[in-house]
Amino acid sequence: MLSMNKLVLSPLVRVFLFAIATMFAATNFADDSKQPLQLAALSDGFDAEQTYMMSCFACHSSGAAGAPKVGAGNAAEWEPRLEKGLDVVVANAINGVNTMPPKGLCFSCTDDDLRAIVDYMIANSK
Ligand code: HEC
Repeated sequence: MLSMNKLVLSPLVRVFLFAIATMFAATNFADDSKQPLQLAALSDGFDAEQTYMMSCFACHSSGAAGAPKVGAGNAAEWEPRLEKGLDVVVANAINGVNTMPPKGLCFSCTDDDLRAIVDYMIANSK
């Protein structure tokens, strides 16, 4: 009798323990992955101006396809966009909006790299 119970229960117990272990592992993984993202969010050797010149300049210097122009005297291009709030503008750079391609085609850029480039673009359009 007892040995029968053991046979039936032990796989269940193992599944139960496995589920708990998985939950713990998942929780720890989530905690671990948060920290490096917050601490080292910019890519190694990242330079906002250099990346802007490589990935964004082609459209944003000329205003191609209606891209807001970057450069001295272009504050009016950015003011109406910034009314949505900087976070929305940065999110649009990350996800793309209309003919603005996701990540501005800089696929190696992290979200924080893109935020830094957007800061650079706005700071240089006054
Ligand atoms: C192929 C051309 C193209 C490239 C390359 C490009 N953009 Fe854009 N971008 C656009 C266009 C067009 C818009 C206007 C989209 C709209 O509002 O309809 C835009 C809009 C934006 C905006 C304003 C978003 C808003 O909320 O109004 C930001 C910020 C931006 N781009 C950042 C970048 C960054 C950063 C890069 C480079 C990493 C980049 N773009 C590369 C075409 C481009």
